Amino acid sequence: MTPQPTETREPAAILSTRERGTWSVTAPTILTPSKRSSDNAAAGTVKTLFDRPRWIEPCHLYDERGSLLFEELCELPEYYPTRTEAAILERESGTLMNLAPVECIVELGAGFSKKTIHLLKALTRARGRGTFAPVDVSATALMASKRMAEELFPELAFTGLEARFEDAITSITRDIPKLVVFLGSTIGNFAPTDMLHFFTHLCDHMGPDDYLLLGVDRIKDPEIIERAYDDSRGVTAAFILNAFSNVNRITGAGFQPDKISYRSGYNRERQQVEMYGVSTETHRVEFPRHSASFTWEKDEGILVETSRKFDPDDLQVQLRCFGLENLGHWTDSNEWFSLLLFRRSAPSGGLESR
Ligand code: TRP
Repeated sequence: MTPQPTETREPAAILSTRERGTWSVTAPTILTPSKRSSDNAAAGTVKTLFDRPRWIEPCHLYDERGSLLFEELCELPEYYPTRTEAAILERESGTLMNLAPVECIVELGAGFSKKTIHLLKALTRARGRGTFAPVDVSATALMASKRMAEELFPELAFTGLEARFEDAITSITRDIPKLVVFLGSTIGNFAPTDMLHFFTHLCDHMGPDDYLLLGVDRIKDPEIIERAYDDSRGVTAAFILNAFSNVNRITGAGFQPDKISYRSGYNRERQQVEMYGVSTETHRVEFPRHSASFTWEKDEGILVETSRKFDPDDLQVQLRCFGLENLGHWTDSNEWFSLLLFRRSAPSGGLESR
């Protein structure tokens, strides 16, 4: 038998041969790490609630309802990042795909992959074939990406990875040159140390022919930013507060939705939006499975999400220190949002040489 030239259409081909065995198929062309322990997720979530200030890991925002609310908030008139980034992508995708001559696009935190359509169009136009591998913790989002890709880009192979970024980055093969796409200023939702670990881990696993496309929201008039994260229809509020219902579901916690309101604001010193659930009256929150409880004081906020804003020039310098060389920078006429393209620079170029 002759080997099939279509081998890269095999969904697991996106994973390194060493890691392939640690993933399982959850739906056709959708893979997930086999040892994902929801018990650990539940225990971890409860722990952060006993930290001071209390907080919730933002991954709990993206259950099915959360993923749908997120798609809705991206379309809100006040929420400028999505349409601004999409317009830059639409304008520059051809140029981008010329600068990054790859056949494989891996998208981290893909959501429904609506903006990625511009890149996939440019990919199919330039190469006539290729692979699209979105990574997301939300099965709902991956199924939506899959439907989109199968309908609009039947010539592309599709592999959805239902996984956390670290797990996907560890397991994806270095043998296929790829463009790693990280849009929507998701990097701005990482705490500073998480951002450090993310880039360290990513650069450790990027091959010499891999590229990174990063979309970041820029520092601007705080009023414009604050409006984007507290819309008049209350969709952002519903999205953030949904995390408490999700935590109830995962951990059996007793958060009472009618006693929680939404509060957000721009912290100028940290250049970030902070989004909280705030207790409207002092009450106890019970965690029967953990034999634990705490008093949630009136007006005390539990931090659910932060969204950092960037100076693209500073970010380029910072990422150079991780060994990422900038190949291009595109923005909109207001300079509200930036797309940055990087390649991993030769290992000697980093700070690690001394
Ligand atoms: N990363 C985007 C941002 O920070 C999208 C996003 C993530 C978001 N979490 C959010 C938007 C919470 C609104 C509220 O803007």
